[in-house]
Amino acid sequence: MNCRMKQSTIGRNIVDEISFGAIVKIRDQLLEMQRQGKKVYRLESGDPSFSLPPHVKEAIKQAIENNKTHYTDSTGIPELRKAIAEKLVRKNKIKDATPENVIVSNGGMNALYVTFRSLLSPGDEVIIPDPMWTEIAEIIKLAEGVPIRLPVENYIEEMQKYEDDDKVKAVFVNSPHNPTGLVFTPKQIDGIISFAESKGIFIVSDEAYEDVIFDGREHVSPGSKYDNTISLFSMSKTYAMSGLRIGYAHTNSEILYDRMKKLLRCTINGVNSATQYGAVAALTGPQEFVGQMRSEYQKRRDIIFNAVSKSRYLEPVKPGGTFYLWAKIKEYPKEVKDSWDMTYYLLDKTGVGSSPGPVFGPAGDGYIRFAFSADTEHVREASELIEKFE
Ligand SMILES: Cc1ncc(COP(=O)(O)O)c(C=O)c1O
Repeated sequence: MNCRMKQSTIGRNIVDEISFGAIVKIRDQLLEMQRQGKKVYRLESGDPSFSLPPHVKEAIKQAIENNKTHYTDSTGIPELRKAIAEKLVRKNKIKDATPENVIVSNGGMNALYVTFRSLLSPGDEVIIPDPMWTEIAEIIKLAEGVPIRLPVENYIEEMQKYEDDDKVKAVFVNSPHNPTGLVFTPKQIDGIISFAESKGIFIVSDEAYEDVIFDGREHVSPGSKYDNTISLFSMSKTYAMSGLRIGYAHTNSEILYDRMKKLLRCTINGVNSATQYGAVAALTGPQEFVGQMRSEYQKRRDIIFNAVSKSRYLEPVKPGGTFYLWAKIKEYPKEVKDSWDMTYYLLDKTGVGSSPGPVFGPAGDGYIRFAFSADTEHVREASELIEKFE
């Protein structure tokens, strides 16, 4: 039997609908420039610059030292599910959270996958903001659902047009929002809840940036007000644990919970044990780190926002949260015709990486996104270059 014959037996698969991720192209170019010895600024994607809080590091080390390195419950160790449930009640005001209705996932990404895979039947529609972090639409497609993109700035008004569309099975909320940094007000959250309630559908609430929120704004969890919410969280941003891959989710639907549990068992079968002990320490230990990190991000936000405001070509949107700055291209240099060109032009002229807006959806046309999660001096230097680039 030869290889070509085997190849021809591979049929179409839902995974073929998924792209490799456009930001990877920019990243490759940045890495190539770095290899050539050029100074580059990694503002194309968001990864916290902070180190793990020391007590979290210590808990991970201790777990390994004490041989807590065996299989765990596939939904997470009981101590962690207890710590998560207590945090959800205390901080997010999700009153009915218990260790029995939360799961521990391999990052927020995995929580998103098990949620949509559990919730959707083929052809079900999910309302999502436009623009939106690329992976959301992809995960919905993987779950055989159909993303309906609505402009984030008129999200609540626009969703009313789908009042009578029975195919819409969920509305997705991400506040603070990647890529625009927009934070929904409590009133806007109420508006989304009214819509979901009137249709009897779920809200899927991605709260990965709940702690990266500025100017004293309040983070509101839809799950504190609406029972049919699946609430998703990430430890990547709040505790700088991005590489350790841990997140969690809550639902009070028994049917969904059982499905999510089965999916976890048959996919990751539990997050690595040592990280779970680190997460217990993160959630139950001192929280000063979170406030310090937030003020540092706010400082970076101000540096990059002020610089981009003065740039000849770009007009920034002031983010209320997240570590992303969304900027409109107000004037195109001669050689530039679209957001993709602008990203490469800026990279070529200054060494500053960014992401072209259209990767986040059609509403991103004419925009680019900067991440300011890199350390403050790096963000400051990059900002000076963006301010002056011609
Ligand atoms: C909006 C949003 N949700 C979820 C995630 C998932 O993060 P992680 O898988 O690292 O927990 C990200 C990561 O960038 C994100 O931007």
